[in-house]
Amino acid sequence: MRTAFLPFLLVPTLAVADTGADPWSKIFEVFSHPRCANCHVPEDNRPRWSGPSYGQTRLHGMSINGGESRIGAETLPCSTCHGEANAPVPHGPPGAPHWALAPVEMVWWGKSSSEICEQIKDLDRNGGRTLAEVADHIAEDPLVLWGWQPGPGREPAPYSAGEVAQLVRDWDASGAVCPD
Ligand code: HEC
Ligand code: HEC
Repeated sequence: MRTAFLPFLLVPTLAVADTGADPWSKIFEVFSHPRCANCHVPEDNRPRWSGPSYGQTRLHGMSINGGESRIGAETLPCSTCHGEANAPVPHGPPGAPHWALAPVEMVWWGKSSSEICEQIKDLDRNGGRTLAEVADHIAEDPLVLWGWQPGPGREPAPYSAGEVAQLVRDWDASGAVCPD
């Protein structure tokens, strides 16, 4: 009896140990998700639209450009359409306090896992935050939290804000190693 049981016991144990081991790849899955990356865009200052409600990823409609201010102060401010809360209907403008593009040094859009990983640890490019402060920002900032409550028709970012904040803490505690 015992020898027959043994393979059943060993195989699932090894599989569980393997999948739990890599917090960074889960963090990258979130950062590169459209609900997050579409505001962390390059120096063209153009927010992106993507996901099932938009079809293929494309530039924000209506030629919206955040400008160097990243809030559209030079042309049409984001706040013209984006209020403090989501419009209640599909394709209505989503909203959260202080709607804005992330600063250019925090670009994630189109970047690789290793590039974003090095950047999120770099005090010159992450808003001067320790990784503990990055975790707190994920748990508390209204624009980040919007990624899990994006309004009708938009799929939320994976996991939850609390889980991702904890993944950052776990990754920090294990040495914050980046992929090659
Ligand atoms: C003229 C109105 C208008 C302005 C100004 C505007 N937006 Fe939007 N935005 C919209 C609408 C409408 C949607 C929803 C489109 C849909 O769901 O089909 C949207 C959606 C978005 C989304 C969600 C896309 C996604 O894939 O999650 C982001 C991000 C966004 N806008 C960023 C910005 C930023 C940043 C600015 C300022 C630089 C801005 N928008 C200015 C109307 C506007
Ligand atoms: C509406 C635009 C917008 C969306 C959507 C958005 N962000 Fe940001 N993000 C910002 C802005 C603006 C800043 C700069 C805030 C600051 O430094 O205080 C920022 C900064 C950050 C930072 C600080 C450190 C760094 O290097 O970037 C983190 C972490 C972050 N965002 C995570 C996320 C995550 C995770 C999501 C999705 C769940 C997300 N953001 C979605 C606009 C956005």
